[in-house]
Parts: sequence; C-alpha cells; structure tokens
Amino acid sequence: MTMQNDAWVVSLVGIGLVALLFIYVIAQAGKTAPDPTTVQKGAYALRRPFFWALIVLGIGVTYATLRTFPIPKQQGPLYPAQIVQVVAHQWSWQISPGSIQAGVPIEFDVTSADVNHGFAIFDAHDRLLTQTQAMPGYTNRLIYTFARPGNYRVLCLEYCGVAHYGMMDELHVVAHKGDR
Ligand code: CUA
Repeated sequence: MTMQNDAWVVSLVGIGLVALLFIYVIAQAGKTAPDPTTVQKGAYALRRPFFWALIVLGIGVTYATLRTFPIPKQQGPLYPAQIVQVVAHQWSWQISPGSIQAGVPIEFDVTSADVNHGFAIFDAHDRLLTQTQAMPGYTNRLIYTFARPGNYRVLCLEYCGVAHYGMMDELHVVAHKGDR
C-alpha cells in the first residue's frame, strides 16, 4: 500500500517537472536567443558540479533505500528449539505441527510432494519474513525465530499451476513455554 503511495508521489513530481519545463519553454518562446558561445560556456561550467551533484544524489538515494536482508543467517551451528515439517502440494501446505513457539529458533524442513513451490512466511502487515524453495526430492532447512506470537501467513512464491494464487496457510505462533 505505502509503495503505491510512494509511486504516486514520484509520478506526480515527475509530471510536475515536465509541466514546469513546458511552461519555461513557452515563456521563452518570444525572446531573442542570447549569444550561443556564452550559453555553451555556461553549460560547460555547470557540467562538473552537476556531475558531482548526481553522484552524491545517487549515493544518497542508494543509502536511504537500503534495507536489512530479510532472511536471517543460515550458516553456523544452530540448535532449533522446534522442528516443523513442511510439505508443499498442488495446491496446499501440509505443516506439522501447526503451533510454533516464539522467541526460539525454529527449523522448517521444507520439501514438495510434486513440483517446485516457494515457502514464504509473511507477518500481519504482509511483510516477507523469510522464505525458501520447496523442491521435490530435497529438503531445504530454514531457520527462523519469530519475535512475537501471532498469526503468520504462508504463501507460495513460485508459480506452480492454475491454483498457485490460492496456496495459502497460516502459522500460529504462541509464547515460548519457558517465558511464562
Ligand atoms: Cu505452490 Cu505456487
């Protein structure tokens, strides 16, 4: 949703800039042209600062839009508190157990009974938390720690046939037993 609003603002600003350029050209239409050599010199003088301004702007925009990589580190010794078996089917998820503990590392052993699927977990704001491929004949291990209890959505991220869009499920994440 917010992405859409951002796209709107960017589009409107872009349209506004183009409109301003048109207004400027129209306003200049009646005037006599200045000496071309002075114009050229002015443009050359502007070239260097303009170039550096673009570089700075590029670095700034890149830095401002950086996000932390959404998938936690998978290497190193990990001691999951719970192992969850995930089998993908056309077009449903078989997840056991369905009740998962919060605050401790969970290992998802993800495989598929038929074709390639994408196992992806989303939070209540539809933000992608983690994901891995669900492949026939392989088990992909995915480690994830849920920060807080709640209901999380599982969606398929790999096109897997006509009902791919309907391949959804829910994870019920409950407070860790030791926390109470
Ligand atoms: Cu399973 Cu798309």
